[in-house]
Amino acid sequence: MTVSLERRTALVTGASSGLGIEFARELAARGAVLILAARSEAPMQALASELRAAGATVHVRCVDLADAVAREAFAAQLERDGLTVDVLVNNAGFGVFGPFADTEWERLDAMLAVDVVALTHLTRLFVPAMRSRGFGRVLQVASTGAFQPTPTYAAYAAAKSYVLQLSHALDVELRGTGVRCTVVSPGVTATQFFAVAGQRPTWYQRLTRMQASTVARQGVAAMLGGRSGIITGWANAVMAHATRLMPRGLSARVAGVLMRN
Ligand SMILES: NC(=O)c1ccc[n+]([C@@H]2O[C@H](COP(=O)([O-])OP(=O)(O)OC[C@H]3O[C@@H](n4cnc5c(N)ncnc54)[C@H](OP(=O)(O)O)[C@@H]3O)[C@@H](O)[C@H]2O)c1
Repeated sequence: MTVSLERRTALVTGASSGLGIEFARELAARGAVLILAARSEAPMQALASELRAAGATVHVRCVDLADAVAREAFAAQLERDGLTVDVLVNNAGFGVFGPFADTEWERLDAMLAVDVVALTHLTRLFVPAMRSRGFGRVLQVASTGAFQPTPTYAAYAAAKSYVLQLSHALDVELRGTGVRCTVVSPGVTATQFFAVAGQRPTWYQRLTRMQASTVARQGVAAMLGGRSGIITGWANAVMAHATRLMPRGLSARVAGVLMRN
């Protein structure tokens, strides 16, 4: 059964770009009140204007999710503003490309802060109140990188494995409470991801690239349809499941070949 989002409030992190913009469009089209959160204000204001013109109520919040103090302040301000988060889309994130030993620690540190710690912190901040109210939906954004060790994205793929495992375990813990946790694992998607990560997409990545709007539509449909997880795109699903059947060392070598230009 698909859940209605009329008058529900949805927080979308990373709503200034790529998938976050498309998640916000999907949720607004289903009647949700939107809270857009990221560091860059201008693209979120532009998105807010677009969604308001279509009749949505939208709030814009600038926050650096890598900062624990800022995350606490952000959640406290939402409470003071009377905004109750019914749907949490933990989408903000980025990758660091390159051989692990050559990557800058400061970038890895910031990546783990956003992709792992902020996602976990926001989930912990909002889920207890959802459970008390007897309703909530959490959509966590992992990656097909979560399914196998991935040379040149070693720490990023490991971080997304964490997101995958956390989310499935949490969904089981929450059964019967009215709160569900869905994890969406996109493959290569046309966003700013590769520019931010510092990678020129490989032939394999160009071949399997999906549109962000398609990925967001499938992720939101999975969340509202009560699924615990979805890998977007059939080719991505086949690859992710096939790698699970291989010895881990072999799947790491295969991923390493597919990452090569
Ligand atoms: N595109 C792909 O191929 C792909 C594949 C699998 C998974 N994913 C995942 O999809 C999610 C969305 O990425 P995308 O592809 O849409 O990339 P994107 O276009 O680069 O968007 C990333 C978003 O994350 C936000 N963000 C990054 N650091 C932040 C911080 N410290 N505080 C607050 N917000 C922050 C950015 O906002 P500001 O810079 O304005 O803060 C931006 O809105 C990520 O979790 C990514 O790992 C992407």
